[in-house]
Amino acid sequence: MSEVRRVRVPIDGRSYDVLVGYGAAELLGTLLPVTAKRAAIVTQADVPVQISANIPHETFQIGIGEQYKSLETIGELCRSFARMGLTRNDVVIGVGGGMVTDVAGFAAASYHRGVPVVHVATTLLGMVDAAIGGKTGVNLPEGKNLVGAFWQPSGVVCDLDALDTLPDREIRCGYGEMAKYHFLTGDDLLALDLTARVARCVQIKAEIVASDERESGRRAILNYGHTLAHAIETATEHRYAHGEAVAIGLIFAAHLANVLGRIPVERVDQHFAVVGEEYALGVDLPAGVDPNQLLDLMRRDKKALDGLTFVLDGPHGVESVTGVDDGSVLDALSRMAS
Ligand SMILES: NC(=O)c1ccc[n+]([C@@H]2O[C@H](COP(=O)([O-])OP(=O)(O)OC[C@H]3O[C@@H](n4cnc5c(N)ncnc54)[C@H](O)[C@@H]3O)[C@@H](O)[C@H]2O)c1
Repeated sequence: MSEVRRVRVPIDGRSYDVLVGYGAAELLGTLLPVTAKRAAIVTQADVPVQISANIPHETFQIGIGEQYKSLETIGELCRSFARMGLTRNDVVIGVGGGMVTDVAGFAAASYHRGVPVVHVATTLLGMVDAAIGGKTGVNLPEGKNLVGAFWQPSGVVCDLDALDTLPDREIRCGYGEMAKYHFLTGDDLLALDLTARVARCVQIKAEIVASDERESGRRAILNYGHTLAHAIETATEHRYAHGEAVAIGLIFAAHLANVLGRIPVERVDQHFAVVGEEYALGVDLPAGVDPNQLLDLMRRDKKALDGLTFVLDGPHGVESVTGVDDGSVLDALSRMAS
């Protein structure tokens, strides 16, 4: 095992460690609550990651695809936990990407009104984002992530060996979220190797979550690049995956900040250098999508409580900006097209 980094998520009374590195899964046992006599492992059939919990356990597979991120799946899991006699002292272990950790986390938050959960993130997106911070939940036919709970894990493993089997497109989606972190602090993530970079992303998210666990303010900056991303996902009927759309959303956010006089053009160029060059992600708007449709979709963004709202870079760093005018948004979109 090469060096494993330990990042602390400092949440009042419920702090926990995230282990990052090649072979980190070997240390899973050190994250399990000492009270746990049994584990319920939640995973998916196509997640080729084996873990050893070192305590008696049963494994439950959930379906593959967002349609299984549902209340029905939560019901089935909780019934399985009951049949195996899982108690409040035991532990749920989610082994998979964000879909698994969101579902396993919400089942753990609900069963017996809350049992400990440990996440083994197996996608890059899961490692730098979904497994960290305690947001859990499922979709309804009416919309994504509409039912859930804040339920912090007892620990998280980010074993980079898991990335060996991850399809290229899933790696790119992880890069989309990873690129976002380059702009949330002033430090140079490009100078870091993968272990250090993932650990730094975890640390940045941990620090933001600790300052605003329930997203009443600052945590919103984690949505940098996401307002246009959600609109693109909807406008393209999800032909663009989330991370791919975030990559485009980051470039748009930079243009918009420039249109509004918040950042110079050199900072826009830095966004290109990270997103388009370092991570080699697509940065163009999807062909054939009408800018007015995107504007309309962004106006309906569930996080837009006060007119058109964006998370934008600026002289004080990345922050939420409300009341942005239509003309500036359309101007920024047209700069993307050129
Ligand atoms: N809770 C949060 O804060 C948060 C943040 C971002 C995203 N999310 C959620 O995360 C989900 C997306 O997560 P994701 O991008 O990790 O996708 P995912 O969990 O759907 O995984 C993508 C695919 O890769 C497979 N897979 C996972 N690990 C693998 C591995 N090591 N090798 C080969 N295949 C593997 C999965 O089975 C799946 O088919 C969405 O549901 C989203 O809403 C949650």
